[in-house]
Formats: sequence, structure tokens, C-alpha cells
Amino acid sequence: MNKILQFVFIIGIVVTFVATNPIETSEEWLAADKEWWQTAVFYQIYPRSFQDSDGDGNGDLNGIRERLPHLKDIGVTSAWLSPIYKSPQVDGGYDISDFKDIDPMFGTLEDFDKLVAEAKKLDIKIVLDFVPNHSSDKHEWFEKSIKRIEPYTSFYVWADAKIVNGTRQPPNNWISWFRKSAWEWNEERGQYYLHQFAIQQPDLNYRNPFLVEEMKNVLRFWMDRGVSGFRVDTLPSLVEVESSPDEPLNPNPGDDCLPEDHCYHDHIYTNDQPLTYDILAQWRDVLKEHSAATDKVPRVIMIESASRIDLNMRYYGNETHDGACFPFNFFIIFNLTKESDATDYKYLIENYFTYLPKGRTPNWVLGNHDRNRVGSRMGVGRIDALNMLIMTLPGVAISYNGEEIGQEDGYVSWEDTQDPWGLNAGEDRYLLFTRDPERTPLHWDTTKNAGFSTANKTWLPVSEKYKETNVKAQAPANVDSHYNVYKTLIQLRKKSTFQNGELTVQAIGKNVLVAIRELKNSPSYLSVLNLGDQNEIIDLSNIEINSATKKLKVEVASVGAKIKKGSIISAEKLELGPNESYVLSTDL
Ligand code: NOJ
Ligand code: MG
Repeated sequence: MNKILQFVFIIGIVVTFVATNPIETSEEWLAADKEWWQTAVFYQIYPRSFQDSDGDGNGDLNGIRERLPHLKDIGVTSAWLSPIYKSPQVDGGYDISDFKDIDPMFGTLEDFDKLVAEAKKLDIKIVLDFVPNHSSDKHEWFEKSIKRIEPYTSFYVWADAKIVNGTRQPPNNWISWFRKSAWEWNEERGQYYLHQFAIQQPDLNYRNPFLVEEMKNVLRFWMDRGVSGFRVDTLPSLVEVESSPDEPLNPNPGDDCLPEDHCYHDHIYTNDQPLTYDILAQWRDVLKEHSAATDKVPRVIMIESASRIDLNMRYYGNETHDGACFPFNFFIIFNLTKESDATDYKYLIENYFTYLPKGRTPNWVLGNHDRNRVGSRMGVGRIDALNMLIMTLPGVAISYNGEEIGQEDGYVSWEDTQDPWGLNAGEDRYLLFTRDPERTPLHWDTTKNAGFSTANKTWLPVSEKYKETNVKAQAPANVDSHYNVYKTLIQLRKKSTFQNGELTVQAIGKNVLVAIRELKNSPSYLSVLNLGDQNEIIDLSNIEINSATKKLKVEVASVGAKIKKGSIISAEKLELGPNESYVLSTDL
């Protein structure tokens, strides 16, 4: 064989091999029996915008309780709540002044207990947001720390000023997520304190054993009140290096990044420190102890980590510290845009499994309160395709409230802006940073304020789009809606093929992504997603699936799709309109 032919032959084999073999890393995990959290859909509730029960324009706990039947109807069995604790609300409740109490705006501890009890009756588990990196500057610990009252003196990260040419300077160049120096001078104490977020959010010090214990008690407090786990806020920022060296500049800060923006530096000394992984292992033990002492049901830890993929994966823990714990997979949010093609999606999924440690639970996050809503970020036409994707891949799906109806971002003017990130950027640049658009109230129906509140003014304006996009219009079973696509997907993912089946991903041409799930002696499923804005005609008959067939059944069809749910189609020719997407099966 001549050299060129030999080369072509080898490449040919490689390509065929990659194209038809299931993704390897998932096998061991797939075979295992699953605990409740491992294939759950975690539905994120943003409490202030979910449902207002007392007409003050702010969502609250009783409002969430009233809406539990909605969660039940879409089939969600676990909900995580963004912070509901006592807070001056400088950063949407992530500035907490009492970790063990409810903010009066949201209700009382009794309301919380009622919510958990009612949710339990409906088989819905409640997960809370645990915010360990910082407290509010109004927390009693901080006030005592300023005054050096023991044991609070070193509960926070304090540092002496650097004197340069006779003037007081922060100890180093560290920058806050919300712009400018991460250090704030406190006159009374005569030192700087660290705040990786807003000035009103001083960083807690995990080198202090009393603080470490206090925060464990916070976990115990809420588990005693019936919560099933925690979403851990910004875990990578938990600990910083002690010697406080300057951070280097980011080699690729991006066009919109200014020197006082967080993106300007490479945060190697303020993120992913060894002690952070150690503290996490201790929290897992606290959760395990609780479950061992009570109902033996695992309590889950979901970690917010925007770290590089290798560092992110380390939050899964090692052999000695496993358990119900996973770092959010934010790569759909970070790495895919409206412009991404099917190969980008395939690469992202396969790359994720390449890094995923053996035996760990994969997860897929589509949206949250920090990112533009899916329709606005990825294109309205792709809403169903993306829900199909996260709901039919192996493992956990994380969904943000409103994704079940394809709610888009609201418009929030500069005058109405609440988000400190937007406010700190100033009127000219606030739209680059503000997270308010994805936080506007949920659209329930076409009544006043979209059925969210009876108030004359809501904390953020209700988007005008509620008239077309709302739960009430989309919920009836006979309506072709995002809601019914979402609901059908949640039902479908209970099938054993989705729980335990292997995954293969293929790109057909530039725009069509096919995710195949297969399990011995069970029907196979194909999520066929047209990510492009053009018509596509594809042939699925040569895809090797174990129960090979020329016919396929439509299990789920995107809104407006030509072929309806329940139809039997020929695998040889499938015509897809722009963004038209289906979940198909061999379950004829
Ligand atoms: C991540 C949260 O999701 C975000 O909303 C908040 O501003 C920061 N952490 C600080 O707590
Ligand atoms: Mg209210």
C-alpha cells in the first residue's frame, strides 16, 4: 500500500471508530443503581421573582408554597432556592446578615417549615443556597470583628495597608468581581478587609477554626429543618493565598474588559486553593453524618464553580471523600453561543466526559440568575432543542425557573437597576454586566404583573412579553408549547435508557446534533437537534443503534414542528425546519 493510501486508511478507521462508539467515561457510572439526586432535575427558584403572596412586590416563601403544584405539574422533584436569609439585599440576598434566619421580606422560619412540609407531601425536595465565602457587613460577626472582640477578631480576611510614598494603599492588586479593589479600608479597625464581591460582602476566613465550625453549624441548622442539600455559592473563592502576592494580568482579557474590571486579572491566588478542597471534604462529612443519623437518604452538595475544567473536576473529590457532590457543569453556558454549530456541541459533550472522573455523576446547567435567559442568549428558536439536550444527556439537569415556558430576558432601565455589578459599571456600561434582565418576575398569566404580584410596583419591572409567554397559556395539554415539551421530557427521562443507557454523540453536517442513548433490551432514543437556522434533510437509517430499525417514533417535538408527538417516521429521510428538533425512539 502506498504511503498516502495507508494514511487515508488509518484516518478512515479512526473516524469510523469515534463516530460509532459510545462515550467511554460514562460506562461505570451508567451501570450503577442511582440515588435520588443522580438523575434529578434541579429546578432553581429565584425567590424574589417567583411569586409574591402579600402584595409588597417581592416574591416570598408563602408564594413559593402556593406555586408548588406548578412544580408538581411539570414533574420537578427537587428545587433549589437562591438565598432567603436575612439580608440587606445589596447583592440579591447573597449578602447575609444572619445565616440562620429568614429575611422578613421572604417570611419567617415558620413559613419556611411549612414550605418544606408541603413540598415533602408532594415529593419535592428543597435544596438551599449556602453562601460560605462572605457575609454581609451588617452581620454581627463582622461588627465584632471590627472591634476585635474574640472569637471574631480573625473571622474575616484582614490585612495591613501598604504604605507607598507616604500614602495608604491596599495590600495588593486584587480586584473584586464587581470591579475595583477587592480591599476596603476600615477606619475603626485600622486595616483593610477583603471582599471578592461587593464592599458590603466581607470575605470570611477559613483559617479560623471557630468560623469553620460556625459554618458547619449553619449546614446542620438547615438540615435539621428538613433540607435535602445545598448549592454552594462561589466555592472556588473560599480561600486565598496567605502571603497576598499581586495577581498577574489576564493575557486575553477581551475587548470590553477595562483595568478595573475583574476580567483584567488572572485570579490564580484568590481561587481554587488547596484548603478549599479540604473544607469541602469536611462539609461532605457533615452531610453524611446527618443522613446517617436520620433517614439514611444522601444530602446533596452542588458546587458553583466557574473554574477551568481540570480544577472544576477536582471538586468531585477523591476516593476517600466521595458522596453526593458535584461541581456545576457551566460549559454549555460558557462555551456555546448562538453561533456554535453541531461540532462545537459534540466537542463540548465529549470533552466534558474526557475530564469527568470515573464513576462521578455528570450534570448539565442551562441557565441561572447570573446569565441571560436561554432564549435571549442562544436564540428563541433553540429553547426546545436545549431543553431536549440537557434532559436527555446522562445525569443531572439543572434548570432555571422560567425555562419551562421559554421566558426571555426582561428590560430593566438604568433607573430601575438593582444589581451591584450593573450599578458599579455605571450608566454607560451597565448593560454589559447587569444580571437584572434574567431576574425579572416569572410570567404566570395575563393578569396584573403577570400574576406575580398585586403590588403597584414590583421590585424589578415585569417584562411586557408576559402577554404572549406565560404558564397559563402554555400549560393545557393540547397546546403546542415549550411547557409541554419540558414536561414530556421530564416524564421521558425516567425511562431506564435515560437512567442507565450509554451515550453517543454525532454531528450530521454543520447543524444537526444527534445524541443517542442505548441500553440493552430497552428502546433506544435519539435527540435530533437542528441548531441551525436553515432546513436540513437527514438520513438516520445508517446510525448504528442496537435495536436497528428503519422506523422511529416521535416522543417529543419542538414547538411548531411539522411532525407531531406519537407519529411513526421513516429513519431514511427526516426533514427539519430551522431549529426544528425531536426526541425519537425505537419504541414502536
Ligand atoms: C454567585 C451568585 O450566583 C451571584 O449571584 C452572587 O452575586 C455571587 N456568587 C456572590 O455571592
Ligand atoms: Mg411579598
